[in-house]
Amino acid sequence: MTSSVQNESNDNWLKQGYNHFIDIANKITLAIEDGINIAVTSKYNPLYYHGALPQFYLWVLFLSGLLLFAYYVPTIDNAYLSNRLINAWTSVQYITNSIPFGGVIRGIHRYAGDAMVLFIFLHAIRVWFTDRYRQYRWIQWVSGVVLLLMVLFIGQTGYYLVWDERSLLLTRMTVSALEALPIIGAPLKAWFLNGDTITNLTLSNFLFIHIGLSFALLFVLWLHYVRMTRPVITPPPAVNFVLVGILLLAVFLVPITSGKMADLNSQPNTYEVDWFFLFNYWLMSHMSLAVFWVSMTAAAVIATILPWLVKNVSPPVIPAEVVISKCTGCSLCYRDCPYQAIEMVPAPAGSRFKLLATVNIPRCSSCGICVGACAFDAIDLPQLPDANVLSEIKTFAEAK
Ligand code: HEM
Ligand code: SF4
Ligand code: SF4
Repeated sequence: MTSSVQNESNDNWLKQGYNHFIDIANKITLAIEDGINIAVTSKYNPLYYHGALPQFYLWVLFLSGLLLFAYYVPTIDNAYLSNRLINAWTSVQYITNSIPFGGVIRGIHRYAGDAMVLFIFLHAIRVWFTDRYRQYRWIQWVSGVVLLLMVLFIGQTGYYLVWDERSLLLTRMTVSALEALPIIGAPLKAWFLNGDTITNLTLSNFLFIHIGLSFALLFVLWLHYVRMTRPVITPPPAVNFVLVGILLLAVFLVPITSGKMADLNSQPNTYEVDWFFLFNYWLMSHMSLAVFWVSMTAAAVIATILPWLVKNVSPPVIPAEVVISKCTGCSLCYRDCPYQAIEMVPAPAGSRFKLLATVNIPRCSSCGICVGACAFDAIDLPQLPDANVLSEIKTFAEAK
């Protein structure tokens, strides 16, 4: 076998394997969606709002976080005011035990964070399996990876803020991990601790990162949405209502508590892992720091460049085509296209109509929405002609 033939057969093997995996994964997710549809109908199926749900939880986090912020004291000193010890740990205890519904608000904040991460992963997996992340959508994908990393880091800083023994241990583990990095390790450690060692300034830094990055999320979200014509960012009120109910149930069933107050002279060495936010600390304690950093960086890089990595093994995206002789310039396709891939241009001289639709090829995702929008059969997907789709639907309906 010559090497070029061998390469081609390797490519085919890879292509078939990858597409087979995506096909099976997609079928499994569709079956789960169908199952939920039977129970709650498609209108209320939360999986159809996999993008809107992280956004919903973000609003819940902002609101509950604002209430917690009102009483939080970002210090680690043992300062006394009217004979009462005032620091981060005692302020969190005060919120939980003494403010009316303080414990509930704290629980909602914690569980909404977990739910947000869960739905972000579902969302990312869904857009990957349905092939809605390549080409013109690369910016949604890359900004999505940035959002995920930011959300994970924001959640971790939330754990430091409680300033119990787990916070102290996580802070120390982070410092050791940063110290293991060549060149950038030392400045990163100084930035993280806001100095050389853990002080009051460290905790105000954590608070600043936690809140500052949460607001920065809004900018990255803008980038995430800017290329979509009508992103679905709010689930139906009934779904929101049920989700808040589930959060409340979780809070009552497993109320959030703090561990013992952190003491800089103690050496806590065990902690409870929150698998949504702290899995990297678990990894860190089960491998060398060098392997940890290399695998984390590799995972982040592979996730970011996935749309380009799979370029050669994914099916080509064939853009929609306008049948000029049939186009009336009604603009329905232009209004319905989710990716601003249709432009209305002046029709050529002598035409009965003023405008004509044209497809901006690099933006077209081959979604077919314009085909459904056009009442004049004037736009089609070459690989899936309208007539074939209609006859398939007829055959399917007759078989039922
Ligand atoms: C804070 C986290 C995130 C929020 C709030 C969010 C929200 C959304 C929303 C509301 C949409 C529009 C969905 C629609 O209209 O059907 C969307 C689309 C998209 N998101 Fe996210 N997302 C987040 C994270 C991610 C992540 C982590 C990824 C992948 C790594 C990702 C990749 C995408 C892609 C590729 C699309 C385009 C899908 C399409 O065009 O149908 N997102 N996102
Ligand atoms: S297939 Fe049509 S609706 Fe979909 S992106 Fe292309 S032009 Fe827009
Ligand atoms: S919907 Fe059809 S007829 Fe109307 S502008 Fe688009 S392609 Fe032309």
